[in-house]
Amino acid sequence: MFELLTERRYLASFKAARLPQQFTDVLIIGGGVAGLRAAIAAADGGCETLILTKDVIDESNTWYAQGGIAAVLQPEDSLELHISDTLAGGAGLNGFPAVQMVVEQGPRRVLELLNWGIDFDKQPGNAHGLAFTREGGHSFPRILHALGDATGKELASTLIRTVRNHDDIRISEKSFVIDLISHQDRCLGALALIGGQINIIWAKQTILASGGAGQLYRESTNPRIATADGHAMAYRAGVRLRDMEMVQFHPTTLYVAGASRALITEAVRGEGAYLVDRHGYRFMPDYHELAELAPRDVVSRAIVQQIRKTSFTHVFLDVRHLPQQEFAQRFPSLARLLDQFDIAPDHDLIPVHPAAHYMIGGVEADLNGCTSLAGLYAIGETASSGLHGANRLGSNSLLEGLVFGARAGTHAAAAATQSPEMKFPLNLEYQFPASQRTELDVQDVRSSLRSLMWRNVGIERSGQPLAETLEIIGFWNRYVMDKTFDPRQNLPAALEGMELQNMLTTAYLITAAAAARTESRGAHFRLDHPARDDQRWHAHLLWQRPYQAPIIEPVS
Ligand code: FUM
Repeated sequence: MFELLTERRYLASFKAARLPQQFTDVLIIGGGVAGLRAAIAAADGGCETLILTKDVIDESNTWYAQGGIAAVLQPEDSLELHISDTLAGGAGLNGFPAVQMVVEQGPRRVLELLNWGIDFDKQPGNAHGLAFTREGGHSFPRILHALGDATGKELASTLIRTVRNHDDIRISEKSFVIDLISHQDRCLGALALIGGQINIIWAKQTILASGGAGQLYRESTNPRIATADGHAMAYRAGVRLRDMEMVQFHPTTLYVAGASRALITEAVRGEGAYLVDRHGYRFMPDYHELAELAPRDVVSRAIVQQIRKTSFTHVFLDVRHLPQQEFAQRFPSLARLLDQFDIAPDHDLIPVHPAAHYMIGGVEADLNGCTSLAGLYAIGETASSGLHGANRLGSNSLLEGLVFGARAGTHAAAAATQSPEMKFPLNLEYQFPASQRTELDVQDVRSSLRSLMWRNVGIERSGQPLAETLEIIGFWNRYVMDKTFDPRQNLPAALEGMELQNMLTTAYLITAAAAARTESRGAHFRLDHPARDDQRWHAHLLWQRPYQAPIIEPVS
């Protein structure tokens, strides 16, 4: 049923010898926090480093991050507390060494940003004069933020500036990576569409940092480019992926018909906002003792239940009781957004609804970001490093990107330096018989897939709809995965076609994993198996092509 999805190796047919070829020591796929930080480390390690970004470099999930970066910097806070919060959030699937390493090395990675000129918000009297806030699941206010609610923009700008000042880093924007190149069980770079033409980039070491998968869902906080390309290309290359059922839904995005689902940062609740239903009833205390600051999965599910109870389409954030001048200063982007829709936060309620936000599962990676394929690293949202377990705490991901970026970049540079005379198979080729079987309306399948995933593989899941979803994906796979999209004929159509193939591949993995895990844990909630079952499911689900069943690996 899924033969094409699980058997096809490359999305493009190619003969390497006929393509433009580039060579680099370290290739980095993706320009978010993890990729940028890795590039700096790789170049500092003496390597020629090339970053490929799908769009312009400042279009990434990182750029849109609002809340902040979690780090233990205040003397009253402790590493042990941050570790135990992260483990509690992760519901038994975290890798303890990854949690400990990120929490311990995080403060150093954050402080070095100050040397690179980052402008975190300030609070005199605090450690380093910095302002901190709280987010769900954190038992201490340890979230640093910048420009009020535009932390990602300030962080990405700082890293981009640092990258641009580095002589050994090249950036190639608008460069869509089609596939990882592998030969004899080793990653050797990537096949990428650059300037409308397929190029081969041969690399001694390749770091996959291509971000998330939010576009798989009709409701998403992610930008248009987050189409799970990295997950899918790693899968095609035979790399192991883990915990793919774990998708995080953010409780609060602006719910106004016709507007994009703009994220409303959890920090708004951290600063005291309430969630109320259509009757003005504050419902979160009925669901969890931490009320609005309960973990994200709890808040998202509570909203869905309250929506059902009240027969309405959404709930509301109530910030009317907060000091309004401070609110506008602390959340300037949100204040501007509300203003655009004539929502006055001092007397109007803000309509909100959950949306897909963060891909927790991903390419299995060790403490240096190494994957099951030699020469390939995975970091950031594309990776499953073990930090987040079954549920990520807000603001732990930028920290993860910084720590794993630095580690993977350094490790890759050392590995590249040790293999100065690498031989690349310049005559590599792959032919896939292009099918003319059907005309494909890519946009139609894309939007049908997004609706299907939202409806059946979203915040609440259960066996029957998951089985139906797999059947539909299997059916679509027959006439989506048999196509080869030729960029020479129509570049935008080829890009969209390949994105759809990546989305369908990753949707298959998420759905198959969600169907297999017959329990509820962290971000994965089964209406038909609402309890956590540690006896059977204190385990990871691993996926590797061409097998259609997962490997179940008990958590050690
Ligand atoms: O709510 C937020 O600002 C999101 C933060 C995060 O996802 O880490």
